[in-house]
Amino acid sequence: MLQKIKEAADFIQQRFQPEAEVAIVLGSGLGDFANEIEVIDAVPYGEIPNFPVSEVPGHAGRMVYGVVKGKKVLAMQGRFHYYEGFSMQECTIHVRVFSLLGIKKLFVSNAAGGLNPNFKVGDLMMISDHINHFGDNPLRGKNLEVFGTRFPAMNDAYSPELRVMAKSIAEENGMILQQGVYIGLAGPNFETQAELKFFSIIGADAVGMSTVPEVLVARHCGMEVFGMSIITNIAVPGLNEEASHEEVQDAAKITGPKVKLLFEELINKC
Ligand code: HPA
Repeated sequence: MLQKIKEAADFIQQRFQPEAEVAIVLGSGLGDFANEIEVIDAVPYGEIPNFPVSEVPGHAGRMVYGVVKGKKVLAMQGRFHYYEGFSMQECTIHVRVFSLLGIKKLFVSNAAGGLNPNFKVGDLMMISDHINHFGDNPLRGKNLEVFGTRFPAMNDAYSPELRVMAKSIAEENGMILQQGVYIGLAGPNFETQAELKFFSIIGADAVGMSTVPEVLVARHCGMEVFGMSIITNIAVPGLNEEASHEEVQDAAKITGPKVKLLFEELINKC
């Protein structure tokens, strides 16, 4: 695996010669944020050695190198999902590539169902913590010591400093920013009523099918993480609507401008 990661990192190094400190992973419907990036260069995943190729609608599938608010960034326009059949290590290869390229901060975003009854469709939730409910872990197997330790800590997985910054950006701009715990599941099915009840009892505020593997790998590599969920549908047990993939993408598009503001200002400040 290490060899595969190095090959991908070498390719990106030669192609972009990136000088970036921040990398962004744009989830479902968030690919539009890529339009806010002054693109220096972009490469489809299919051209990057050892990168999986995702076929989920709404995921353009390319890595972008560009400038946001005068700062150079690398962005994943679309990510790899465990439910597509990739292994946890495959799903997170980009995070380790970023680490080898010297990236210190990872911004992740996703579409999620709102379990917290105070959340509305179109709300933004800053992720304060997560629950790994995938039943798998990208750090399982031989530990890659070059990246980090065998038993990495996961307290404060989501940077308290970046969360404070995001909160003040939201306040300054009169933006409502929810915060809460994200529970990540393998999917691909949406949840049963009993599952939603269970997730809400164990302390989750939003439910989705991504992000957790990337954050585990990023923290293992010692990166600072900032995470954000767009609440695309209500997943409160008893009140949940049938969420379709199209609805998830539509809601994510509406929230796009708020994500843009928050990401841009955070990139500007950090
Ligand atoms: N459940 C799981 N994943 C999701 C949901 C949901 O309700 N909405 C968007 N992604």
